[in-house]
Amino acid sequence: RQEIATYPITNAQQLEEYRIKYLGTKGLVKGLFGEMKNVPGDKRKEFGQVLNDFKQFAEEKYNTAKETTVSSEAATVSQIDLSLPGNPTQFGTRHPINTVRKRIIDIFNRLGFAVADGPEIEDDWHNFTALNLPENHPARDMQDTFYIHQNPDWLLRTHTSNVQIREMEKGQLPIRVICPGRVYRNETISARAHCFFHQVEGLYIDEHVSFADLKQTLYFFVQELFGKDVKVRFRPSYFPFTEPSAEMDVSCFICGGKGCRVCKHTGWVEILGCGMVHPKVLENCGIDSEKYTGYAFGMGIERITMLLYGINDLRLFSENDIRFLRQFQGAV
Ligand code: PHE
Repeated sequence: RQEIATYPITNAQQLEEYRIKYLGTKGLVKGLFGEMKNVPGDKRKEFGQVLNDFKQFAEEKYNTAKETTVSSEAATVSQIDLSLPGNPTQFGTRHPINTVRKRIIDIFNRLGFAVADGPEIEDDWHNFTALNLPENHPARDMQDTFYIHQNPDWLLRTHTSNVQIREMEKGQLPIRVICPGRVYRNETISARAHCFFHQVEGLYIDEHVSFADLKQTLYFFVQELFGKDVKVRFRPSYFPFTEPSAEMDVSCFICGGKGCRVCKHTGWVEILGCGMVHPKVLENCGIDSEKYTGYAFGMGIERITMLLYGINDLRLFSENDIRFLRQFQGAV
């Protein structure tokens, strides 16, 4: 009994060894029953009872051991069920501003524009003065500026035109660059305005660059971005750094130009400012304005993203609300 009680059975093989040793046809229990004939008649009944008891004990151990080994092996098998789906991995999503910025860059890359970068903390010269906005020029009011307290000559750039100045100052011509980046303006935060946003500005300077080149380049750009059916129109405008200047509208691609809330029922939406680089700006950067001409343009990425995805509140871009960001899963 002692031996049986402590016999280790943890798997199917040990169970079978146990069965053969104690309960099989050549096992211990059978053997003891064989001894029955050698027991004197008067003791036989008692011997039989003890033996039956012992047999039951041995069988019980077998049955319980069988149950536990079978179920534990079944459990092991189910733990590695290869048909179960894997643990889902949470993928991040590209921010919609990033997606659209990348699309814009790709289109201009194909036209031969390189990407240029510059500082977000800028001096007055590169952000304003070189761009033909001398001190006290009223156009400075158009761009409420964050100045850096310690030094009034430093500011957070109000547009990425500072990069254009820096490219021109390098003195290597021709120049064909786009400047994507973050810009800052001191505006009250609302659905339509924020204290920072993103721009892509472009600059092309060479001999004989004309306004026709500018129009054709921008027309190609919006066709790539909004589709071949898009229409464009140019309206005269004013920027101190370009002359002539224009703003470009595209036919509202939500309503196809028929009129809807997005285009305020005009059928057109404004997407960028542009013009021929002012000769004074070229001279400020040491470029011969008799020999060279150029065009420049600038657009807000937020605005274009809102049009493309039907987003109606600028604040959504910077609130990190996962419910908003998740909706761009898979957008490329
Ligand atoms: N710098 C202008 C702005 O921030 C955009 C612009 C760029 C306009 C180049 C014309 C030419 O609003």
